[in-house]
Amino acid sequence: MADSIDYTVKPGGRLTGTLRVPGDKSISHRAVMLGALAEGTTHITGLLEGEDVLRTLGAFRAMGVLAKGPESGRLTIQGVGLRGLRPPAQSLNMGNSGTAMRLMTGILAGQAFDSTLVGDALLSQRPMQRVAEPLARMGARIETSAGGRPPLKIKGGQTLRGVDYPMPVASAQVKSALLLAGLYATGETCVTEPAPTRDHTERMLQGFGYAVGVNGARRCVRGSGRLAACDIDVPADISSATFFMVGAVIAPGSDLTLEHVGINPTRVGVINILKLMGADISILNAREVGGEPVADIRVRHAKLKGIAIPRAQVPLAIDEFPALFIAAAVASGETILTGAEELRVKESDRIAVMAQGLKALGVEVRETPDGIVIRGGTLRGGTVDSHGDHRIAMAFAIAALRASGAVTVCDCKNVDTSFPGFAGLARRAGLGIEVK
Ligand code: S3P
Repeated sequence: MADSIDYTVKPGGRLTGTLRVPGDKSISHRAVMLGALAEGTTHITGLLEGEDVLRTLGAFRAMGVLAKGPESGRLTIQGVGLRGLRPPAQSLNMGNSGTAMRLMTGILAGQAFDSTLVGDALLSQRPMQRVAEPLARMGARIETSAGGRPPLKIKGGQTLRGVDYPMPVASAQVKSALLLAGLYATGETCVTEPAPTRDHTERMLQGFGYAVGVNGARRCVRGSGRLAACDIDVPADISSATFFMVGAVIAPGSDLTLEHVGINPTRVGVINILKLMGADISILNAREVGGEPVADIRVRHAKLKGIAIPRAQVPLAIDEFPALFIAAAVASGETILTGAEELRVKESDRIAVMAQGLKALGVEVRETPDGIVIRGGTLRGGTVDSHGDHRIAMAFAIAALRASGAVTVCDCKNVDTSFPGFAGLARRAGLGIEVK
């Protein structure tokens, strides 16, 4: 496989038709994790076969879990039960995936054996203290590398005890790591979130028959229960659908329907924000599939206006800002984002990298410590560097729909972590994208 992949995208065009983007990444990780730790056989359909989820699956296989697939989104896992994992022969490599590393830390903290988690160059720069510190309060022994970064060395055979943890950052990964460790702890483990974050872990634990106490912003589990295998149908990922939603909103003549998209209320910030900007988005056939709300989403072109993004929407749209910044860049007036410092510790510093790319396309932007101010206008063609960040690569690809010249996006290989087949699907919908 080529070491580096660039996109060259022709200017203009529109997005039309009906398409289904791949499975939800957050739900896919959790389905593999809970399926592996359950008693019995779990059948998953709609699984994201992206590199991040394959890393999670690889880790469980390395700990003795048998699984068939994935093939066309189908995976069958023979669960080994909460105490059935075997010591891995080597370090577990989580690749580019922060979700895999943080959630696995919670699970591994409760095992009888030692383990080490490593990641790629980008993941190795990301903060892990946010999980290591509260897990240590539960009695876990986790050694981070300098600055609280990976690799993580996790000492097995510790007795974990429940804690009551007020989370300083609104992070579903931290919440989930603690709840998963709580399955192995004595007594009750509770986390309180400062703002609502995605609740897939809570929903799926309940789907596997494990009680989760929900009281306002507090989530609690008791240790020593069991997970009962079940079947999971993973909805299409709203975070992947976002690139097409924004593309259809900004490109005149677009009319696109995205099928079977997960619209969990903790994930729909992108729809709320786009609607506040004036987007024409209809939610069709809303239904519930395996404990998660799902719908088809129809998006038509509309003129957008800049807004001050409500802070409460930030955690609900946390992965969608690269694409939302493109919407802001073609809106009339200024869009102001605040309260989003978390964007600086994602797969890249998404505020700095997006600001750099937008400037390269002639957009007036001003970075702030916790956000950005974008003055909407016109986009010119040019070359931008995604810095290996999958969502930044896809965001600038769709920006070409409104650019006056071709847009080249460098370093797009990591798109495969969350959205294998992006370029092909985008081409079918009407984007003039070439991969080199
Ligand atoms: C995720 C939670 C979010 C999100 C990430 C996936 C998850 O991170 O950015 O892509 O699956 O729990 P934080 O919880 O750290 O904000």
